[in-house]
Amino acid sequence: MMVRFAVLFTLASLLPAAFAKIKPATWHTNGTYINNATTVAADPYVRWDKRSGAYWAYSTEGADEGWYYGIYTSPDLATWTKIPGGAIKNDSTNIWAEDWWWAPEVYYNEKTGWYFLFHAGRFLNATKVAEYFKYPDFEEASKIGVAVSRSPQGPFVEIADRPIDYYPFDPGYDDVNLIMQPPYLVPPSTHEEGKTAPKGTYIPSIDPDVFWDDDGSIWLFFSRNAYRNWVWSDEFGKYIEESNIYAVRLDNAWWNDPHAKTLPSVHSSFKDVHKGEPKDWQTSVNSSFPGPTRKDGWVAVISYALQPQAWENAHVNDHAASGGTLKDRRWSEGSTTIKRYDSSGNPVYYLTYSANNYESPDYGVGYAVADKVSGPYYKSGSNPVLSQDASRSIFSTGHGSVVASSANPGELYYPHHARPSPDDDRYLYTARLFVEPDSLYLGFGPDAGDLRLPSGVAPLSIKTEGGQNGTYELVVRSASGAKFDLSNPINRVRVEVSGGATAQVNGGLVTIDGNATAKSKGSSTVRVVYERARSNETAPWLAVSQARGIDAGDVVDLIIDV
Ligand SMILES: *[C@@H]1O[C@H](CO)[C@@H](O)[C@H](O)[C@H]1NC(C)=O
Ligand SMILES: *[C@@H]1O[C@H](CO)[C@@H](O)[C@H](O)[C@H]1NC(C)=O
Ligand SMILES: *[C@@H]1O[C@H](CO)[C@@H](O)[C@H](O)[C@H]1NC(C)=O
Ligand SMILES: *[C@@H]1O[C@H](CO)[C@@H](O)[C@H](O)[C@H]1NC(C)=O
Ligand SMILES: *[C@@H]1O[C@H](CO)[C@@H](O)[C@H](O)[C@H]1NC(C)=O
Ligand SMILES: *[C@@H]1O[C@H](CO)[C@@H](O)[C@H](O)[C@H]1NC(C)=O
Ligand SMILES: *[C@@H]1O[C@H](CO)[C@@H](O)[C@H](O)[C@H]1NC(C)=O
Ligand SMILES: *[C@@H]1O[C@H](CO)[C@@H](O)[C@H](O)[C@H]1NC(C)=O
Repeated sequence: MMVRFAVLFTLASLLPAAFAKIKPATWHTNGTYINNATTVAADPYVRWDKRSGAYWAYSTEGADEGWYYGIYTSPDLATWTKIPGGAIKNDSTNIWAEDWWWAPEVYYNEKTGWYFLFHAGRFLNATKVAEYFKYPDFEEASKIGVAVSRSPQGPFVEIADRPIDYYPFDPGYDDVNLIMQPPYLVPPSTHEEGKTAPKGTYIPSIDPDVFWDDDGSIWLFFSRNAYRNWVWSDEFGKYIEESNIYAVRLDNAWWNDPHAKTLPSVHSSFKDVHKGEPKDWQTSVNSSFPGPTRKDGWVAVISYALQPQAWENAHVNDHAASGGTLKDRRWSEGSTTIKRYDSSGNPVYYLTYSANNYESPDYGVGYAVADKVSGPYYKSGSNPVLSQDASRSIFSTGHGSVVASSANPGELYYPHHARPSPDDDRYLYTARLFVEPDSLYLGFGPDAGDLRLPSGVAPLSIKTEGGQNGTYELVVRSASGAKFDLSNPINRVRVEVSGGATAQVNGGLVTIDGNATAKSKGSSTVRVVYERARSNETAPWLAVSQARGIDAGDVVDLIIDV
């Protein structure tokens, strides 16, 4: 048997060189993807990795037993392959978080070759809880940690057996938790009563998102965990427990360390800025539980108090509505910050965030804009800009990240989680994201139907690897060499046989029996065509075609002579 590779004659390749120079022809494909639930993922963070020529997704869920955080890789931002295991092995060195491993994000330093995975985790050990939050019984002791790897597929190992060097403290907070009773569902009923509580609290932190500004400064955005943050509302006449989004500047030493052995620390401009506040603060409850001695700063960037928006009020009456089993709540979490410039050259910082609980029909994504990294951030009047669409069976749309296509930094996508039904797992969905800094606009493209593949995927190639006894492993790759997972239900190869041979396809394996029926060598031809699933029920598969410049295109196929 022999394999003939389809040769692509393109119009662009025949154009005079001078013409080609005017507008270099770019590859494009009419390949599409269906935005549906094929990959389990919660709080997904996605990045394009130039070194491996692939997209990588990191998720709170999806790891195998004994690992934290699912990892997936993709040639096209749409068909994902799970990496066995996960990001951090449970028994690796320096594990400090005892549970609540949430919301990983990964960044790559091109100069040092290190990948950094930021994540949240919770302490349960009373001594440890007191070390970071003063009170050994502090309810929800979440902190942010950093693990490193030489590869986007891990394994990642914690830099140290502790979280980052940051002790965010709120000196003005009336710590009503100290005058509440377990199970801490019912806060004081009046503001006057709340104001009798001792002042000051350490802040539990989750949902890290690191932002590099053009001036070289590095910023950590995070959520103040909803738990234990009761905020008085004049509007509703009661305390509501909320998460808020804060930012703080980090130092740069950890990022530049060629050995990646340095934990991030808060920048000196925020370090211990609340020293001496509040006046009568005792650092420890007693000598058995030494508490923190530093009180670091932060800037509030998203909260209801800073700018109330009614869509964030979906859960403010949950306590009564649930017959007393839930708390009255507000959430703002899962933020991502990017920077763009308007046509006058002024910076526009866009921050996306999720509000409400993901199990609620009111869960969704909003955004805010600022002209300085530390704000103030102004919420868009169009919020929420992404929310469930029951008519298309897309629920719980939120907590995403922003990634540009590999070929075009202006072509943005928002991978996020969503569910195909209100009681399903969370899955990875991806919507086109559009920003227009001149009008401070941020919005999403269509996320149903057949969506175009990102730039940079084409030209695809199809080849065989191994060909013993008539069984071939077919490999379809993107322009950058990343493999398509042919066992994923939205990818397939189809065979067309002429002559006497028979051929069967199973995922990426094609088995050809030529000897049994072919009269003589070369009398049979097997053509293998790469196809993508479509949303069109009468024509559910598309033969993917690709071309350079203005050409009509050729399908991605391969011919095997039997
Ligand atoms: C996603 O699309 C593929 C291809 O049409 C289909 O096989 C699969 O059942 C769909 N999954 C869901 C959850 O809709
Ligand atoms: C990690 O190990 C601890 C201690 O053996 C165990 O309690 C926990 O369930 C493990 N977690 C995972 C995700 O494997
Ligand atoms: C809690 O942490 C302290 C301080 O690291 C340690 O000495 C102690 O053994 C831990 N307790 C448990 C039950 O792991
Ligand atoms: C220290 O405080 C803890 C928590 O309130 C308490 O359980 C413990 O008995 C105290 N120890 C001493 C020696 O007072
Ligand atoms: C190919 O067929 C021969 C003869 O039947 C057999 O010995 C060999 O193991 C087969 N190889 C593979 C890779 O299946
Ligand atoms: C098919 O025929 C070729 C050439 O005679 C031979 O090398 C090969 O082993 C045969 N394959 C099978 C599956 O019989
Ligand atoms: C679905 O595909 C069929 C066959 O190619 C075509 O006639 C029809 O217009 C398509 N429907 C939609 C909604 O695109
Ligand atoms: C994609 O291109 C191929 C080859 O030109 C063509 O047969 C097919 O109809 C195109 N499909 C769509 C959906 O444009």
